[in-house]
Amino acid sequence: MEILKVKGGNELNGEIKIGGAKNSAVALVPAAILSNGVVIENVPEISDVRFLEEIVTYLGGEFCKEGSKITIDSTRVKNREITLAHSQRLRASYYFMGALLGKFKRAEMYFPGGCQIGTRPINLHLEAFEKLGATVSCEDNKFVIEAKKLVGTDIDFAFASVGATINTILAAVLAEGITTINNAAMEPEIGNLIAFLNSMGAKITGKDTGTVVIEGVKKLSGGSTKVIPDRIEAGTYILAGALAGNNLKISDLEPKHLESFLDKLKQIGVDMVVNEDNIVVSKSNNLKPVDIITETYPGFPTDLQQPITSLLLTCNGESTVKETIYENRFQNIKYLQAMGADIKIDGDTINIKKSSRLKGNETMATDLRAGAGLILAGLIAEGETTVTEARHVLRGYENIIRKLTAVGVEIELDNV
Ligand code: UD1
Repeated sequence: MEILKVKGGNELNGEIKIGGAKNSAVALVPAAILSNGVVIENVPEISDVRFLEEIVTYLGGEFCKEGSKITIDSTRVKNREITLAHSQRLRASYYFMGALLGKFKRAEMYFPGGCQIGTRPINLHLEAFEKLGATVSCEDNKFVIEAKKLVGTDIDFAFASVGATINTILAAVLAEGITTINNAAMEPEIGNLIAFLNSMGAKITGKDTGTVVIEGVKKLSGGSTKVIPDRIEAGTYILAGALAGNNLKISDLEPKHLESFLDKLKQIGVDMVVNEDNIVVSKSNNLKPVDIITETYPGFPTDLQQPITSLLLTCNGESTVKETIYENRFQNIKYLQAMGADIKIDGDTINIKKSSRLKGNETMATDLRAGAGLILAGLIAEGETTVTEARHVLRGYENIIRKLTAVGVEIELDNV
């Protein structure tokens, strides 16, 4: 088991460079099998991408890495069942449902894995596949999705799901006719995927509008893209700067993708300068409490809810965070309480009061962003904080030990 150990009290200065977005990369790699050969640049070095590489290779694709650039040759990809082990390694394994269905008109896989932050059903994905003409059967948690042919149609999502929007695009891109997705998710990672598919010859419009229109094409080939900066990694390190920074520079990011998050930091009174592709942030006193509600993009991202909670512990007064996307995303709270945090859970909302002295403690990364939030709390706690199940953190933060050590954090990773 991997355990992270972080010592509190150090001042952070220097620069942290942000890598490519996890949530883009994990959609772009499965999308690559729709073409014959693609190039993807700025791919983050995280375990979720390595798991997807295993699946592409298992299907017969060739994966070649040169630094952060990967080349995927999919000419020999065959339609095989995505095994139980592959399916359960990560959430994004389910993008092979859409990609295999689009390419071969048949996909077989199990219920996907990923962070245990709610029940996370996939009904919207399956309903969209059915609307495109597929039949879906499920036995012992294994899905078989198949179609004689896929035909474009109108799909109205009851909720703007990121995963269902991506899976529908992957399935519809080679369908006959036009598919219109209404109430499509607008997260920037979806725009990244659309640009990538269009570079292969797809005809997709409407990114960032909530209505995505896909005109089916017969064939896709070639294609290249650059993974957009990881807005959640950027937000996490900006919070580290707000907690313990002295002119900490977070670079290679896209401030436009962080608007609702940065608005909250401004409201709190965080000392930061926002430049074109970097943000310089310092610890400041007299921070003001805020109320946060998580929403779909461009609202406040649920993925930054647990990280920002650690900053709210330093604000003068009572803040609240209402989680509207997932029903089980407060698992970090009991560990923060054990460190001395004054937080109460009230249904889908937490009330956070200023907690002047946090003490290092044994904690657990129950999920990826919970782990990130606990590391942030560890930066300002007295003594050492340990975070067990750190594998969750490594799934989404590339070189986190190296990046934090370089700016002055005492942090190490033990394998026990
Ligand atoms: C993606 C992100 C995740 C982020 C989330 C919301 C990836 C790999 N993961 O997750 O980091 O937290 O967006 O921004 O990109 N839902 C249904 N039925 C469905 C699909 C979703 O009820 O068929 C519900 C989910 O249970 C959840 C909510 O909708 O409560 C959001 O899900 P969705 O937007 O699909 O998130 P993911 O794609 O799983």
